[in-house]
Amino acid sequence: MKDVQRVAIVDPSDSTRDPLRNLLLGLDSVWLEAECSRYEFFIDVVRQSNPDLVVVSLDADHGKALQLIQQLAVEFAQVPVLAVSGRGDGQSILQALRAGAKEFLTAPVVLEELLLAMQRLKSSRGAVEGSTSVAGTTGRSDSMIISIVGSRGGVGCTSLAVNLGVALAQDKANNCALVDLDLALGDADVALDLIPDYTLADVAMNIDRLDMTFLRRSLCKHESGLSLLPHPVQMEDISLIHEDHLQRVIGLLRASYTHLVLDLSKRFTPTDLTAMRMSDVILLVAQLELTSLRNVVRMLHTLSSEEGMSDKIKVVINRVGSEDGEIPLAKAEETIARPIYWQIPNDFKAMMGARNAGVPLLTFAPKCKAQQSIVGLAATLSGKGPQEAKKEKRGFFSFR
Ligand SMILES: Nc1ncnc2c1ncn2[C@@H]1O[C@H](COP(=O)(O)OP(=O)(O)OP(=O)(O)O)[C@@H](O)[C@H]1O
Ligand SMILES: [Mg+2]
Repeated sequence: MKDVQRVAIVDPSDSTRDPLRNLLLGLDSVWLEAECSRYEFFIDVVRQSNPDLVVVSLDADHGKALQLIQQLAVEFAQVPVLAVSGRGDGQSILQALRAGAKEFLTAPVVLEELLLAMQRLKSSRGAVEGSTSVAGTTGRSDSMIISIVGSRGGVGCTSLAVNLGVALAQDKANNCALVDLDLALGDADVALDLIPDYTLADVAMNIDRLDMTFLRRSLCKHESGLSLLPHPVQMEDISLIHEDHLQRVIGLLRASYTHLVLDLSKRFTPTDLTAMRMSDVILLVAQLELTSLRNVVRMLHTLSSEEGMSDKIKVVINRVGSEDGEIPLAKAEETIARPIYWQIPNDFKAMMGARNAGVPLLTFAPKCKAQQSIVGLAATLSGKGPQEAKKEKRGFFSFR
């Protein structure tokens, strides 16, 4: 979420107001404009603070709170009201909505539910415009999750994940994080020469008290602007990371970052599948040789059996032009029975040099052809369109 929502809250009870305030303060997307402990003063507070959203906690006095919501709905019709109560029964919800609340959350408020409610309120106010990016086509317009999955080992996933993440991070409007989900053998930290203080294992171990502040502290920032959440250092810690942990972590990161790049393992683990399900785009990386293309066919077959998956998958051919014997592109498209979305040229010297130096291509060889291709891919995924991307370099772009 890039836009900040200015919020005013009213809750006469310290014991429920404090956790709600702390939850709101942990969000990048929120500016806590005003906090009030008396229902009767809140109309004045709203008048003076002019918030985008008000949160009314009902439990100190339901009658007064509902009356306040009615007043707010009349005087500040354009400011949505989010009602919060420990009583989540149908009757209480109905009363709050009838009084004029737009959303209702049960206390204690869970971070994800708060984020979703705020997102809905923002969308309903028309603040979120439709995007022309790939994410826009899947219905999420404020963030994009990109999974990178390989059709065999060594096909170039980590190289793509790191350099795509760095390319996306160059746009000042973006806030990009890379999550290394190759839990056993991932090497995104090595590719960026980062020594992390925390990893996904720390996040998983603290999942019950996870909040935005803790999560953000667990990512380490590369000088390019890209943030990294690395794979566990100890292999035995892999078992600590379950699908529901990952679901929560991705959900929270999505609220803080405009782009999440997920470097998956090649083992189709439950965490890989969770990541793919949550993604807006799945870049399936292949090379122009038989094993890789055959695996693309198998993976497309398996993944497409799940609703909503097939359209998200984009085939990226890496190392195009690496050897004489490679399968022609037209033949590859015929084999996999779908168009190739992007091609990245073979650029061994730059890729290998950058990896060995522990720096992205942007630092090592900013003008090399692989970097230009990946910059074009980042632009296209961000909805800048093929035209802009095409101008950046000739030859190696394929747009479908
Ligand atoms: N476009 C390219 N041109 C030349 N070499 C490349 C290209 N992309 C990747 N490579 C090289 O291929 C090797 C494997 O790349 P990388 O580690 O990114 O693949 P991977 O799919 O993540 O591998 P793994 O299965 O180990 O996770 C590296 O040495 C990298 O430098
Ligand atoms: Mg890898």
